Amino acid sequence: MATVGPRSCEASVSDHELGPLATRVPAALRGSAAYHVPQPPRIIAKLDANELPYGMPRELRAELAGALADVALERYPDPRAARLRTVIAKQLGVQGDQLVFGNGSDELIALLCAAFAGPILYPVPSFVYYRLAAVARGLDLVEVPLTSRFEIDELALMRAVDAHRPSVIFLALPNNPTGTMWRPGFALELAARHRDTVIVSDEAYVAYSGVTNLPHLAAHPNLVVMRTLSKIGMAGLRVGFTISSPAIGSVLEKVRPPYNLSALDQRAAEFLVEHASAWCDARAAEVVAERGRLAAALTARGLEVFPSEANLLLVRFPDAQATWQRLAGAGITVRAFGTQGPLASCLRITVGTPAETAALLAELG
Ligand SMILES: Cc1ncc(COP(=O)(O)O)c(C=O)c1O
Repeated sequence: MATVGPRSCEASVSDHELGPLATRVPAALRGSAAYHVPQPPRIIAKLDANELPYGMPRELRAELAGALADVALERYPDPRAARLRTVIAKQLGVQGDQLVFGNGSDELIALLCAAFAGPILYPVPSFVYYRLAAVARGLDLVEVPLTSRFEIDELALMRAVDAHRPSVIFLALPNNPTGTMWRPGFALELAARHRDTVIVSDEAYVAYSGVTNLPHLAAHPNLVVMRTLSKIGMAGLRVGFTISSPAIGSVLEKVRPPYNLSALDQRAAEFLVEHASAWCDARAAEVVAERGRLAAALTARGLEVFPSEANLLLVRFPDAQATWQRLAGAGITVRAFGTQGPLASCLRITVGTPAETAALLAELG
């Protein structure tokens, strides 16, 4: 287990370019790099960001355009997102005051770190923004390595909790970038055992796993379920939400920027959750079927494919960096993880359309 506190690093090139201002950048941020997404010039298959590969049908977009035409752009958005709140609360069968909205769940991760500012614990490798959000606030990080099969080492994690008493534990169920579905009950056991810790069940990929801790919220006042619209066809909107006790919600509200969801995002999300949910569910089911086909085809090529319950596959290649380069050259973007660490020999491939799968497999040979 690695415990990392706020620390000063060597300044990066851009920090030096700041001149005397560089000393004003908090030590925790010095030398760290911003999240960077490489963009090859010509993309034929975008398989690097775990988005839904399908655009919404034309008729639905035309109706959406009509709905957006009524939005009062001269006004600030509704800070409570009241209409969207009603629609989502009804869909999930929860009370409106159990929801907090974020500009994507990225922002909710940052709000959780800000609201419960203390040590932040998460397994590694996992979603990179847990680390970035905690580092930005100078919080201590408690990183608990996954096993070689990217499973949680439950005993090691429990020991780390006892030793470091984290404020927040982030568990991505299923995990990104590995796709692994950890035992969802483990989050509940942690919640029951550590009432003074916020346990986040990050369910960004619930459409692909079908697994949720939502029914257990009432029994666990320190449990937060986090969802996003990004993975089911609306990544461009930037809408995520937490579902929790109203008490946790009211703490998050203290640090939420009042107008964090634009009026256009609110209206579009409200319209699409009401009118496009069946379409989203059907496309997600197609992606799940495609995930099985892609995994089988890659395995048949002798590659190690890790079991996934998300719309992504983590695949070990004999030459991951060279494969990434070759695919990028052919306009196929997948996610690489540098040359160090447990993911160095792996690429993360978002499950795309059958045509994108065919292009990928053709390029892999
Ligand atoms: C596990 C997990 N949580 C949260 C997010 C953030 O999603 P968004 O900010 O688009 O809602 C992602 C995005 O990839 C993710 O993989």
